[in-house]
Amino acid sequence: MITVNRHYADLKDSYLFYNIAQKTGAYLDAHPGTHLYRMGIGDVSLPLCSAVIQALHAAVDDQGDKLRFHGYMPECGAPFLREAIAGYYAEKHVVLSPDEIFVSSGASDELGDILDLFDPKSTALVMEPAYPAYVDANVIAGRNIVHLPAGEENGFLPEPDENIQADLLYICSPNNPTGAVFSREKLQAWIDFANKHGSIILFDAAYEAFIEDPALPHSIFELEGARTCAIEICSLSKTAGFTGTRLGYTVIPKELVRQGMHLNAMWVRNRTTKTNGVSYIIQKGGAAVFTPQGQKQIRENIQIYKSNAKVLMGALDKLNLWYCGGKNAPYIWMRCPGGMTSWEFFDVLLQKIQVVGTPGAGFGTCGEGYFRLSTFGDPADTKEAARRLTELLKNHA
Ligand code: MLT
Repeated sequence: MITVNRHYADLKDSYLFYNIAQKTGAYLDAHPGTHLYRMGIGDVSLPLCSAVIQALHAAVDDQGDKLRFHGYMPECGAPFLREAIAGYYAEKHVVLSPDEIFVSSGASDELGDILDLFDPKSTALVMEPAYPAYVDANVIAGRNIVHLPAGEENGFLPEPDENIQADLLYICSPNNPTGAVFSREKLQAWIDFANKHGSIILFDAAYEAFIEDPALPHSIFELEGARTCAIEICSLSKTAGFTGTRLGYTVIPKELVRQGMHLNAMWVRNRTTKTNGVSYIIQKGGAAVFTPQGQKQIRENIQIYKSNAKVLMGALDKLNLWYCGGKNAPYIWMRCPGGMTSWEFFDVLLQKIQVVGTPGAGFGTCGEGYFRLSTFGDPADTKEAARRLTELLKNHA
């Protein structure tokens, strides 16, 4: 008889955002017609920008024309998109060859798939609170996980120390959920650690476009030594509103070698076996993001989300509630008021003011007592959510 992957039994009953969707669904069933103010999952509310829409339309027309039609795409990405992304990195003074860039259907898919490169017996280090998919993907693979707690005392940016023994190091900067961003010095310490121990950093840069502070690094490859120890995983979901369109990219430098094996070549082998690439139409839409017009338009949308952040931070300031994030990241990480647990606070917000957020406990045990607000909501909804929050909590503060 077949033996199933028993590691599924080690997972929590359900995935965080699925759990939240179930709870909000149950609330709506019990209160039909109620409007919810959604500050939970980081899903964008603004439509794709016009540069992308025009490119998508043109690509659809190409597919209807015998001379311009495309069948299978190159598995690792269309040259036009890989070159456009290399150009984007060049503006940050990071030199990449287009064949170090792999087009993907999104960062969350890629964060799971990339684990194919590593032995299931290797150990993964997750700095918590963390995006829950890091942990779940490694649990499914049966990998040993080291949980490195982060907290207010270290600004949610833990530092390496010689007691840490791990092969794969997850770093998300700007961080989901806390909004903390590694400075060049703090990130360099992890690069030096990884090179010294032969570990590999999986650098999740999905939120890099939200960085305002010019001193902060957008890419790990801006730093010395990263090409021999890091893989960077990026997404157009939050940067350009592709959550429903699906597109991302992964950078694997040619110098990344372990036990004599080149990880770039291994990933080519993996992709050519396991995918037939991302659709031509979507890649054309993605390439438009990297044009001057596309860049201008996506920055305008990001500014709208940043205005949402200001509205929510203004409400928390008024209430005198502690929070971080919101400035260089699209998430605000607040302390739950009145000593409530994060799921208690979730229920209070849902039941009393119809605001949906994300309980900190969903990001690991050290997220308990905190709550995440997403700034990707509709601007009018965000203002109303801030007003309701202020009204509800004014006596708690
Ligand atoms: C989040 O809310 O943490 C993200 O939107 C989830 C994701 O990117 O999959």
